[in-house]
Amino acid sequence: MTRTPLIAGNWKMYLTKAEAVALASAVAAASKGLSDREVMIAPPFTTLAAVKEAVAGSPVKVAAQNVGWEKEGAFTGEISPPMLLDAGAEMVIIGHSERRHVFGESSAMINRRLRAALQFGLLPILCVGETLAEREAGSTFTVVEEQLAQGLADVTAAQMDSVVVAYEPVWAIGTGKTASNAQAQEAHAFIRAVLSRLYEKTLAERVKILYGGSVKPENVDSLMAQADIDGVLVGGASLNAGAFERIIHFQ
Ligand code: 13P
Repeated sequence: MTRTPLIAGNWKMYLTKAEAVALASAVAAASKGLSDREVMIAPPFTTLAAVKEAVAGSPVKVAAQNVGWEKEGAFTGEISPPMLLDAGAEMVIIGHSERRHVFGESSAMINRRLRAALQFGLLPILCVGETLAEREAGSTFTVVEEQLAQGLADVTAAQMDSVVVAYEPVWAIGTGKTASNAQAQEAHAFIRAVLSRLYEKTLAERVKILYGGSVKPENVDSLMAQADIDGVLVGGASLNAGAFERIIHFQ
């Protein structure tokens, strides 16, 4: 089974336009000529268009960090799928743990966002992952399975070929505590098994599952060596051009 690895950077709420353009240009240069892996960066909404321009002519894909679920309307603070496409985004991160836990987004909202992205042709990255309390209570698999089933409600098998899943244990995000290779592989294999149940096995084998949570140049090679880890979703280290370049060039 060949799943082309995806190395993705989530810039979160960092960088002004000039800083974003400088970093995007460095990522484009670091990705030149790569054909055996894909690279994606997700800048804040305000720098999407400038970042898209900065990576033009390179294989780097640009993503948004969230998306509204209607084409347009009275939804103060939301950005619609056509607006993101217009700004140059091809992909969108949905259901990030910061959206779920800091801003209280429900699985129902996340599902609406995901279906809207698919409807308008933006490729979604659906994030799932348990908190430390949930892991310690032994409910990691229950939580992840619920987030997948609810996040993917009414998503067809045909649409599922455009969806990427990211496993991001909340306790590993921004904490410097990476899941061990074995913990990450176990969760990824579980996610693929859930996708087999929700859809079917050959489809589940095609879906990319990214790992996120304190990915660094020091741990990317061993994470990427795991059978069911098809890429990484990088926060902090994606803001440093040298570190992200090394992650892109994982071995
Ligand atoms: P860190 O790499 O900073 O832990 O963030 C991970 C993340 O949330 C990516 O979406």
